[in-house]
Formats: sequence, C-alpha cells, structure tokens
Amino acid sequence: MKRKAKVKATKEIDLMMEQIVKSFNLSPQLEEAALYTLKLPGKRLRPKLVLASAQDFDVDEEIAMKVACATEMMHAGSLIHDDLPSIDNDSYRRGMPSNHVKFGEDVAIMAGDLLFSIAGYTCTESKNNNVIKAFTRTLIELVNGETMDILMAKSKEMPSKEEILKMYRGKTGSLFAFAFSFGSLMAGQDATPYAEAGYSFGIYFQILDDIMDLTATFEQIGKTPRKDIEENKATLVRIIGVEESKKFADNLHGEILSKIGNGHLYKTVKEILG
Ligand code: IPE
Ligand code: IPE
Ligand code: MG
Ligand code: MG
Ligand code: MG
Repeated sequence: MKRKAKVKATKEIDLMMEQIVKSFNLSPQLEEAALYTLKLPGKRLRPKLVLASAQDFDVDEEIAMKVACATEMMHAGSLIHDDLPSIDNDSYRRGMPSNHVKFGEDVAIMAGDLLFSIAGYTCTESKNNNVIKAFTRTLIELVNGETMDILMAKSKEMPSKEEILKMYRGKTGSLFAFAFSFGSLMAGQDATPYAEAGYSFGIYFQILDDIMDLTATFEQIGKTPRKDIEENKATLVRIIGVEESKKFADNLHGEILSKIGNGHLYKTVKEILG
C-alpha cells in the first residue's frame, strides 16, 4: 500500500536532496558547490509547504518528498544566482560565505544552473503534466521577477508600488504559489485559490525580508544587513516606510488564510505568519 504524505523533518528533506544530487555522477567540484548552499541551514519553508499541501490531498509520500526537494533545489539555485557580484553582490548566505565567494563566480553560476535543472528533472517524478507545467512555469516567473528587480535597481526612478508588488509576485511569490497549489494539482482540483494565496504569501514574505534587511543584524538573518539601500533596490519599505509596509503585510494574512482550507497547509501557514 502506498503511504500518504506527511510533513517531514528538515533532516529527511536534506538527506533526499543530497542523494538526488549525488545520483548524477557530476564533477566533484560542481557537486560540492551545489551541495554547499543546498545543505546550509535555511528555514526549508518551501518543502514544508509542499508536504503540508500534499497531506491535505492524500498525495503519495514518495512523490511529495521528491517534489518538496525540487522546490528547495530551485530556491537554492535562485539564492546562488541572487548573490552573484553582478546581481546583489552579497558575500554571505545562510550565515556563511556565499557560493561565489567559496567556489568562484564561474562555478557558482554553473551550480545555480545545475540546481535549476535537477529541480525540473526531479519534478517529473510526479508523473503529472499539470504539476510539471506549473513547476517549470514557476522558474520562468522567478527569473522574470529577478530581472525586474535587477533593472529597477539600475533605473534612476523609483518604480510605483504596483510595479514593486508585481516584481515580488514573480521573484518570491511564484515558488510559494507552486508550493501552496501542489496538492490540489495532484488531485486534479482547482488550484487557482491556492496559487493566489501563495502569491500573496510571497509578497508578505518579501516585505518582511526587506524590513529585516533594514532592521536586523547579521546574526539574525545570516546575510549582510542594509544591502538593499547599498544596491539601490526597489522595495516597498523604501517608498512607504517600515510601519506602513508592516501594516500592508499584516493586511494580507486574512486573504491568504481564507483561500487554503483548514487542514495541514492552513496550520503550517498560520504558524509561519505567527
Ligand atoms: C530568502 O528566502 C529569499 C527570499 C525570497 C526573501 P528564505 O528566507 O526562505 O531563505 P532560507 O531558505 O531560509 O535561507
Ligand atoms: C529574493 O530577494 C531573492 C530571490 C527570489 C532569489 P532578495 O534579494 O531580497 O533575497 P535575499 O535578501 O538576498 O535573501
Ligand atoms: Mg535579490
Ligand atoms: Mg539578495
Ligand atoms: Mg532581501
């Protein structure tokens, strides 16, 4: 009998991600670079949300775990590229030197490419065309959002609030939209409310990250604080301030929680929202 998905501990996700990466017989330096960022301590929110959503729709455990790993691999790839000198130029990630500092910019670019590719490959284990389409579309939206972020930072004019929210929806919201909708996609049900809740959650999450960038210490965030101003990043905080941004983010809670049922996903999201 097939086992149903459960929300697993971070250790099991990490172990499976390592096994997946090691199954490709890669050049040792490339494997080491990819595993470095992947295994550093992060919150593992995306795989946890995938597993919670899978549990709500009785998805097979093995498939759910593979797709959970795929989301964290896509995330880690995006972090490696995000930190590159030509993008955010960040020397720290998850409390440690960022990938390009440790392995060089050339290898770091390849490690990011590799993680994106292995993530897509792993997602095909779902054997569900709608899931594979949604997951690969996620990377398209993420890359588009990251590019908007890059171009906004280069521009002399500060973009409007609407443009900033659109950029957040892509760079951060898309992966959460996938995580929230995974279970419903596997069950062949309408995934739209879940995806919409995930996009809003991403916006909430990015606003909090931007506030932390301005107000937290290195020890709290494991990355260089006050980097957004230094890099001329377009953030909501910069146009409406910390207090108004907090209010805006808090106001998203109701909408997020109203669209995701009241099972495991609801419980997991509520815990994160605090
Ligand atoms: C960091 O994401 C990048 C953003 C989308 C703000 P997380 O805050 O989830 O990073 P980790 O995975 O815990 O390191
Ligand atoms: C989110 O934006 C990055 C990705 C979606 C990869 P940030 O650039 O603010 O993320 P951090 O602060 O470097 O983690
Ligand atoms: Mg960035
Ligand atoms: Mg960054
Ligand atoms: Mg940030």
